[in-house]
Amino acid sequence: MDLTVAPVSAVRGEVRVGGDKSISHRAALVGALAAGETTIANFLPAADCLSTLSCLRALGVEVHREGTTVTVRGAGVRLRPPGRPLDAGNSGTTMRLLAGILAGQPFTAEITGDDSLRRRPMDRVAEPLRRMGAQVEVLGGGRYPPLRITGGPLRGIAYALPVPSAQVKSAVLLAGLFADGETTVVEPVPTRDHTERLLAWLGVPVGRAGDRITVRPGLPRADRIEVPGDISSAAFLLAAAAARPGSEVTAPGLGVNPTRSGVLDALRAMGAEVEVRGRRLQCGEPVADVVVRGRRLRGIRLAGDAIPSVIDELPVLCVIAATAQGVTEIADAAELRVKESDRIAVMAAGLRRLGVDVEERPDGLVIRGGRLRGGRVECAGDHRVAMAFAVAGLLAEEPVTVAGAEAVAISFPDFPRALEAVGTDGG
Ligand code: S3P
Repeated sequence: MDLTVAPVSAVRGEVRVGGDKSISHRAALVGALAAGETTIANFLPAADCLSTLSCLRALGVEVHREGTTVTVRGAGVRLRPPGRPLDAGNSGTTMRLLAGILAGQPFTAEITGDDSLRRRPMDRVAEPLRRMGAQVEVLGGGRYPPLRITGGPLRGIAYALPVPSAQVKSAVLLAGLFADGETTVVEPVPTRDHTERLLAWLGVPVGRAGDRITVRPGLPRADRIEVPGDISSAAFLLAAAAARPGSEVTAPGLGVNPTRSGVLDALRAMGAEVEVRGRRLQCGEPVADVVVRGRRLRGIRLAGDAIPSVIDELPVLCVIAATAQGVTEIADAAELRVKESDRIAVMAAGLRRLGVDVEERPDGLVIRGGRLRGGRVECAGDHRVAMAFAVAGLLAEEPVTVAGAEAVAISFPDFPRALEAVGTDGG
């Protein structure tokens, strides 16, 4: 599907995004391990999270969904062997987090995914799970899916993450629920901590001391979990507003967990006005209403410890960097190359097609702000790249056509409508 987006003079209005993708996955997976019924409100009914639900069903978990409300009748830690390979679709979170749970189950299960997921590294999750005592075969040449996991009794380990990855951290912590003692993960850089927060909120003994997160075996409580709005989805519209003076977008009920809200700091550093009001805690997660007002932006440098909290928002930040004054440099972000696409290469190619002066580096990009022409770009089947280039259409000199824009259904099926609702020509 092609999506063509024409330039607007301002971006204005209220944006109601769906539930956070990372938290929706975790709520379903953790609910499946609780004894009793977990109700998840504001669950994200997008393709990735639906992949998690269908894998859980194949593992014998009773799952019902009505719109954005999901009930999961937990199996009390024990799942049923699936009759066929589990399909994680496009979702790295499904595959990696489920691997942690399967490591603790006394049967063999295989998990695979679509073409994009079958090109993503899974040795990073196999390694620690093997150390804990699970048999994990990485059937794509030792690095790529499918995974064949034979779980069993696990031992608690201390594991230093070689790459900052919340998915690997979460897999180890979830496996730790089945271990014979304490399991500790040491993070080189803080990454999203939704798993820790959710487990703690549901009564599992988990805690952080400096860069060490420790979990002890335990059963999560079945409860009602309300998922905050997804800041990674809202980011597309907030970034668009930031880059057009005269714009104002409000996003109520957004998750503003500091391990996720780097995009707000980046928009502020680029010169936009960002207001965060009504901070509150919802099931252990910080939530707030966010308002962004547009200004003439300037380039910034994003690197080091700042990267994980903004990792999924880098594609759209690259787009608005093209409209900013001066140079934006993104470094220490080589992880972008192993996302749903090689986001460094795909963003560089697309921006170049739109007339942007961009340099591709092994671990990031350098973008010289100035021209953003229109044109046709490819998104390599990557939902966040598709949405980033759609935002480019709002801000460019001529319309932008995004080829393969059906990919938005992975995380934000309503995106085309949301985009249309906020763009105004009236100024
Ligand atoms: C996620 C973690 C991040 C992020 C992804 C979702 C999660 O990936 O990019 O979109 O839900 O844990 P990594 O763990 O590979 O960094």
